[in-house]
Parts: sequence; structure tokens; C-alpha cells
Amino acid sequence: MTEPQMTDTMAWRIAQLTDRIDWGNEMGYYFYLQPIEELNGAHVRVQGRGEMLMFASYGYLDLLGHPKINAAAKAAIDRFGTGTHGVRILAGTLTLHNQLEEAIARFKRAEAAVVFSSGYVTNLTTVSTLVGRNDVVICDKLDHASIVDGCLLSRARFVRFRHNDMADLERALVESDSRGVRLVVVDAVFSMDGDIINLPEVSRLCRRYGALLMVDEAHSLGVLGKTGRGIEEHFDLEGVVDIKMGTLSKTIPSVGGYIAGSRDLVTYLKHMSRAFVFSAALPPPQVAAALAAFEVMEEEPWRLEKLQRNITYFLDGLHARGFDTLNSQTAIIPIVCGSDERALAMAKYCQENGIFIQPILPPAVPSGSSRLRANVTAAHSLDDIDRALSVFEAAGRECGLIP
Ligand SMILES: Cc1ncc(COP(=O)(O)O)c(C=O)c1O
Repeated sequence: MTEPQMTDTMAWRIAQLTDRIDWGNEMGYYFYLQPIEELNGAHVRVQGRGEMLMFASYGYLDLLGHPKINAAAKAAIDRFGTGTHGVRILAGTLTLHNQLEEAIARFKRAEAAVVFSSGYVTNLTTVSTLVGRNDVVICDKLDHASIVDGCLLSRARFVRFRHNDMADLERALVESDSRGVRLVVVDAVFSMDGDIINLPEVSRLCRRYGALLMVDEAHSLGVLGKTGRGIEEHFDLEGVVDIKMGTLSKTIPSVGGYIAGSRDLVTYLKHMSRAFVFSAALPPPQVAAALAAFEVMEEEPWRLEKLQRNITYFLDGLHARGFDTLNSQTAIIPIVCGSDERALAMAKYCQENGIFIQPILPPAVPSGSSRLRANVTAAHSLDDIDRALSVFEAAGRECGLIP
């Protein structure tokens, strides 16, 4: 039976959060979990708010609803149904899974690939499969939560270095001299700041100190590089990343995650990683959608060109208005507000004026750097961006962020 004191502690914890949410609702500051009724590119209909311009989506290349991708998903349902009734290693593998893994390996210029049921699960299971008790795992301070959780689950020694600080990474490598495996894990594009990892230096240090390198490309697949292949293409450093991780839920309009790398690494993960061995296979329509999306990325290069034009246009517009966007050079663009109150007031103004955008507060970002996080995509027209810029400008004035 549960101890009364334990029950009270849990009730207190839950009440604390409930109070915060109630306060947010009373102030008009609660913007989470808003149901979207209809999608039309960047124009969405939100229940209770009406038509809004989306600036919080990860659909960087505007592939959601693409006719070829929708048709592939529907055909997969007709052929295979809606699920697999099993884990991949037993009865759950379809020809479609293998085709998708081959397509990912080709796109990422790797020998092989393996898919998992989400990006979160991919990081969790890969890190905790590859390192263990006698190993060391070294991460950038701003790495995604799924990487951090994988490190904690692994029971390896977990060391963090200051964000994108190569001298601090070298210190971590020197101090963590280990007879076991040393694994460095970084995001390619950081999900709260939108800046890019210094891959040339990270990969040089990994080689120098004999560490394996894993890079999370959740926000760089389809965004970085001349053809959207990601961080290695961006720096023209093909082959320096040992473990190439990505998701199928952002640029790719599906769900799931992947690891691309050597054939042996992939075989190892397919037999040793618990999320692959003990969890059901991705459903057929989602696999077929992802497979078709990789083809569309190659067939329609204009999408990446449009995204890159939009990023430059939006960043220039924000800078011209005096906003601080940190070092973002990508589709994730923080608009730093400082205090939580100001970020919430900015978000409220934007939401009330037709812009769907979310505030990001501690602990997701350091205290004093609360922000709006604006995601620009290929779905935006220049008129859409102009409309958003004028709302941000008015919000910035109203909230005292810009003069
Ligand atoms: C950097 C990064 N890695 C991993 C994930 C998890 O991916 P998924 O949403 O596909 O589970 C996210 C999700 O936002 C992310 O931003």
C-alpha cells in the first residue's frame, strides 16, 4: 500500500503544476496543446482562434500533404494494413522497412541504416546500447533531452562540455581518458538556438582522441547542405560522422527515427538495441510516407532553395528591426526576450494577432534568455514572412523589447 506521506508528496507536485497552468490560463499565457482543425501549408485553422500563420512547425520543406507522399501512404495501407503486429526482428519486418532503410543509407551516403519508432527512442536506445558502465559519453550542454536520457540510461560516465566550445570539448576528452569506449554526441543544429555545431573541430578532436562521433540531424536533414543531406554536406566533410542520427517527423512528414552508419554498426543495433528488439515495427503507411519523402527531396530541389531564401529574408527582417536571434543560421530562429514575463507577453500578442508561435522558458533555456522560437519553412511566402515581421515588431514595441 502507498504510504500516506508519498501520496501527499505526489499530490503536492501535481498541484504545483496545475496551479501554474491555471495561472497561465487566467493570464492568457497558456498556448500549449492547441488543437489544429485544418492545415493548408503555413496557414492553419486553430480551434477557438480561427485562421493563423504557423511559425512553430518543423515541416521545413513543406512536405506534409504532398500528393505523392499521401498516395504512397494510402497504397501501403491497401497492401499491408495499418500495423505490423510485431517487432522487426520476429514477424514485423516488411519489404517496405528494408526499402526505407536502403533509401536512408543512400541519402546519407552510409553503408546501411536502421529505423526506430521515434527520434526520441532512436537517441535513447542508440546511446544506451553503444556505451555502458566502463565507457564515457561526452555531450554538448545544449544537446536534446533524448540524448541526455540515453546517456543517463546507459550508466556510462556522463560528461558535458560548454555549448559549442571546442576548448572545453578537448578538456573533456583529455580528462575522460578511458580504457572503454568514448562516444561524443552532439546536435547538428541546436533545437532552442538554431546554431550549427562546429563539425570540423569536433570531428578533428574525436579523431585525435580516438572517440566515436554521433550527430543528431533532427533539424538539419533537408535543411543543411546543397542538397539537404545535412551537416557533413554543409561542411563538405563527407564520412566524418560515425553514427548519423535523424528523425522522420520533421522535414520528413511521418514519424520515426534512424541511425545510418557502417553495416556492422547497423547489424549490431538491429540485434542489441532494446527499442528495436522489444518494440513493434513502424506502421506501413508511415514507412511508405517516409520513403516517398526521401524521393521527393531529390526530385524537388526548389523546396530547399525556397527554405534557404526564407531563412535569409526572415533573419534579415528581424535584425533590421533590432531583435536578438543569437547565432541562428537555420530554420530555427530564437527571438530572445529575456524575462519569462516578456516572452509570455510577446507570445500572447502574437497569438492574438494571428501568429502561431510558442514561448520557450527555463528549464528548456537558461534563466534570463526566455524567448519566442520562430520556425520558418518552405511553406511561407515572402508576404507571410512580412506579415509575421510586422506582428513581431508591434509586439516588440508593446512589450518594450525594441525601441
Ligand atoms: C534535436 C532533436 N533530437 C531528437 C528529437 C526527437 O525526435 P522525435 O520528435 O522524432 O521523437 C527532437 C524532437 O524535437 C529534437 O529536436
